[in-house]
Amino acid sequence: MEDTIHTPNPKATGAFEASRLTGDATEEDLDSIRRRTSVYVYEAPVRLWHWLNALMITVLIVTGFLIGAPLPSLQIGEATEQFVMGYIRFGHFAAAQVLTVIFFGRIYWAFVGNHHARQLFYVPVWRKRWWKELGHELRWYAFLEKTPKKYVGHNPLAQLAMFFFMTLGITFMLITGWALYAEGAGQGSLPDTLMGWVLGLVQNSQRLHTLHHLGMWAIVIFMIVHIYAAIREDIMSRQSMVSTMISGHRTFKDDRIE
Ligand code: HEM
Ligand code: HEM
Repeated sequence: MEDTIHTPNPKATGAFEASRLTGDATEEDLDSIRRRTSVYVYEAPVRLWHWLNALMITVLIVTGFLIGAPLPSLQIGEATEQFVMGYIRFGHFAAAQVLTVIFFGRIYWAFVGNHHARQLFYVPVWRKRWWKELGHELRWYAFLEKTPKKYVGHNPLAQLAMFFFMTLGITFMLITGWALYAEGAGQGSLPDTLMGWVLGLVQNSQRLHTLHHLGMWAIVIFMIVHIYAAIREDIMSRQSMVSTMISGHRTFKDDRIE
């Protein structure tokens, strides 16, 4: 019998060996796939939230930047025909509403989802081991450690960054953003009833704009570092990264314990 993709290898010693599909699988390859090296970590709602959140934040950054530093008018015509800023602000507010709804959805999932769905919402500062591993991660990212550690969920440094820049960061942008929106919606409107107090707290609209604007730069910095780290860790760490946020499965490249 020919050793093709459709027929089992006649020399196979067992069922597993017989399931070998490609002729070029070596003994080491088979040994590697024989181990169960994949863990289901990020459930579908977490992944959906991740990519929608990333998309909405990208739209908010582009439109927000243009609200803060507007383009020269693009249309030649009467002032009444100009609506460029209107479209930009519409894009910002539409994305803001989606961001708000999915953030509450993500909080809900922290309660009903698996253990890893909760990592985004707390930093285990009371655990000595967490601090030790945080130090290790800092050294690993600074190229001062030779061997990375294995993590099923986020590593401590990622968890810390995600908590401050995303959990607190998004909360900050929602509060300041809806407070700015409340000004436009006017006294007595729902946004004003819920968020009007923020303007009172920071005292003037310019300061509120500046705080909201600074929040954007914090998130931009997070995004740059986050995408760098995701790709770097995909290549250099001992586990899968980007595909984990797509399929939900974390695959380990070796089965060493330490
Ligand atoms: C090409 C773009 C991106 C890639 C490849 C990417 C990749 C990843 C990966 C691999 C993880 C899991 C990391 C781990 O397991 O420790 C993750 C988590 C996360 N990413 Fe991204 N990411 C991208 C864009 C973004 C953007 C733009 C944001 C927001 C500004 C973002 C926010 C987050 C958050 C908050 C988590 C934690 C998810 C949770 O625990 O629910 N990501 N990302
Ligand atoms: C990650 C999320 C967000 C980012 C990066 C972002 C970014 C920005 C930036 C840079 C500005 C210009 C500020 C200035 O220089 O004056 C802005 C304005 C504004 N944003 Fe956001 N924003 C976000 C979320 C939100 C949310 C959730 C809302 C809620 C509705 C919101 C509502 C507004 C409003 C009302 C303005 C002022 C518009 C105007 O003055 O015409 N933003 N945003």
